[in-house]
Amino acid sequence: MNNKTLKVAFFGLGYVGLTMATSIAERDARVIGYDIDTEKVAKVNKGETPIHEPNLSTLLRRNIVKKRFFAIEDPRKAVKESEIIFITVGTPSLQDGSINLDYVKSASETIGKELRDLEDYKLIVLRSTVTPGTTCNLLKPSLEANSCRICGKDFGLAYNPEFLREGSAIKDTLHPDRLIIGEMDEKSGDALEEFYQWLYHDELPPTIRTNPDIAELIKYANNAFLAMKVSFINQVANLCQRIPNADVEVIAKGIGLDRRIGPLFLKAGLGWGGSCLPKDLRALLKFSRSKGVALPLTEATLFVNEIQPLNAVKIAEKLLGDLKDMRIAILGLSFKPGTDDVREAVSIKIVEELLRREAKIVTYDPVAMENARIVFGDRVGYSKSALECINDADCSIIITEWPEFLKIKPKDFVSRMRNPIVIDGRRLYDPEDFSSKLRYVAIGFGSKI
Ligand code: UGA
Repeated sequence: MNNKTLKVAFFGLGYVGLTMATSIAERDARVIGYDIDTEKVAKVNKGETPIHEPNLSTLLRRNIVKKRFFAIEDPRKAVKESEIIFITVGTPSLQDGSINLDYVKSASETIGKELRDLEDYKLIVLRSTVTPGTTCNLLKPSLEANSCRICGKDFGLAYNPEFLREGSAIKDTLHPDRLIIGEMDEKSGDALEEFYQWLYHDELPPTIRTNPDIAELIKYANNAFLAMKVSFINQVANLCQRIPNADVEVIAKGIGLDRRIGPLFLKAGLGWGGSCLPKDLRALLKFSRSKGVALPLTEATLFVNEIQPLNAVKIAEKLLGDLKDMRIAILGLSFKPGTDDVREAVSIKIVEELLRREAKIVTYDPVAMENARIVFGDRVGYSKSALECINDADCSIIITEWPEFLKIKPKDFVSRMRNPIVIDGRRLYDPEDFSSKLRYVAIGFGSKI
């Protein structure tokens, strides 16, 4: 493949689409991003990112200026001028937890119609997370019906899941652990593998070529396993908390050194959130039930995560008694550090629970304040800094492990808070140090309360 002439389009400029489009443009491809959101298209073309993601804005600006990447609302141009078309639209949850495939459906109809008058072979690649069968039973028939062309002969089709994490999306796109290519036919698989050879040169990661159904299920199994690992260690953390001298961090280290387990995703805390794990586990459960199969481990993973955030509230109640009118400082609102995303964030569950108890909430997050305001409105207070947030508080709860919170020292909590109580929901601080200087309770650290 010739670097200069490789032409790629993305349908959907959300997290996955925008970061991958920008990363590919950086490697000198000509990339068109199509989206139906006028405001987003205008923003992207000005080099402004609609999301907070490390390195993305620098990369985006550079590629917009160099004209290697631009966004449009014209699907015809996007399809016509590209050899590979990635579908990167959202697949949110329906009310009952099952997957909403409306955006995949409408993208396939739009692309199908645009393919109709075109002679040249295009490769369509679905990258959104979808339940098994979607590529074969929805995407392929829809593309064929709308284009009046035949999949495998006139155009190629593959399912190619992404595994990028918010907060390290660019790095994950450019240095993935592996590639999963779920091809409808060999030619489609070859074309996609060739594209990745162009992208990664001699750093092509281990690649599995399989059928689309398997590739679709790999993505769900992957996220379900990751979530299970975290829920597992959170359960161990809850047990540790009842055993004086026990520490989940040491246990995670101890079991993580077993190569069969591995050290990652064993960080105990107040639970997992975000736009992917919760929705994907619910969709997987709905899907498996529709096949008459129970997934009790996945059910339990979700259940553990429902109640885990409430530990912070229970601890606060044990230490302070009735929380009515107590001033609680919430440090961290995003679902994890490095992002402004508050979707299904643990902070929401905790704040709502505290508000039900009529506590007075004051919040701070380095980047997620704007998104948090949409969720909480004027029901909580917003601080300009972490130090301002803890002023006069009766209790501080660390919900997101932002590195800047490490700058707050025990003496700051002691001098600023009305009642120096810190609940460390993310194991940010040194328990020995903090416990000796103030009332400090950490998730998974044995204490007498
Ligand atoms: C997740 C997966 O990690 C990606 O591989 C996948 O591509 C993505 O979903 C997706 O399906 O698109 P992401 O939602 O960005 O990525 O977030 P994670 O890094 O997985 O973290 C999820 C939650 O688990 C966060 O709330 C985080 O704080 C929590 N977590 C993670 C822990 O509590 N402990 C850990 O050890 C790891």
